[in-house]
Amino acid sequence: MIDKIQISNHLNTKIFGHTVYSFESIDSTNSFAKQLKNDEAPHGTVVISEEQTSGRGRLQRNWISPAGENLLFTIILYPDFGLEKISLLPFAGSLAIADAIDAITGLSATCKWPNDVLINGKKVCGMLLESSLGNSIQEKIILGIGLNVNQTEFSDELKFKASSLQIESGTIVNRVQLLQRILEELENRYEQLSHFPQQRLLNDWRMKALLFGKKITVLESEFSFSATAIDVNEDGSLLIETEDGNKRNIFAGDVSLAYN
Ligand code: BTN
Repeated sequence: MIDKIQISNHLNTKIFGHTVYSFESIDSTNSFAKQLKNDEAPHGTVVISEEQTSGRGRLQRNWISPAGENLLFTIILYPDFGLEKISLLPFAGSLAIADAIDAITGLSATCKWPNDVLINGKKVCGMLLESSLGNSIQEKIILGIGLNVNQTEFSDELKFKASSLQIESGTIVNRVQLLQRILEELENRYEQLSHFPQQRLLNDWRMKALLFGKKITVLESEFSFSATAIDVNEDGSLLIETEDGNKRNIFAGDVSLAYN
């Protein structure tokens, strides 16, 4: 089981990952993180589990992951910046993860709006950002990350759109080393977002983004339509051009690359 001692051994962060709650099995690391009191969970606290019995994904989906193969963890943050930057935390997260994957595996990961990480067009990582006021007036952000590391089998339904680092690289990946690198990259991205205009983070994210100029299918609630992805706006929404030539911003929902 990945625990606090392994994580802290050669961890190069100032605060991220210095407080750790680790489990063999839990309902959801995000749910556990949410109910921790602020004084039990300082900024940068990590909650990690080998298995989740009720892992949650975006858009009310489940997040299913076999025990002991992947990284399932949550980072608790108390941002020292406003909502306009808080909404960009998933961009900091996906960029940190993509950079950590590249550094540790030699693969070339890309970021897909709003907060997925893909390799060779297949999703290897998803993120669920939640917020609560906790027991004080300070905003508490719960950034949950599910990263497929050493999983080798996916259901028929998933195997054309999901993958893992082991499948894509052909080698077993050291999960502790990868987690440490993610925490280091994420701490740096958090500081970048905190100290500089958000355009700086978004420009870096754009360099790793997959969709721009491509035909996509947009899924908004139950409704889907074709469009071209143009850019990401300063508030994190996606600028698209619909088939009738109109430009629109998408704030929530999901997009996939159109193959026809
Ligand atoms: C997505 O739908 O792409 C987001 C998936 C997020 C899954 C992670 S796994 C760790 C954390 N705990 C949860 O219950 N969900 C997130």
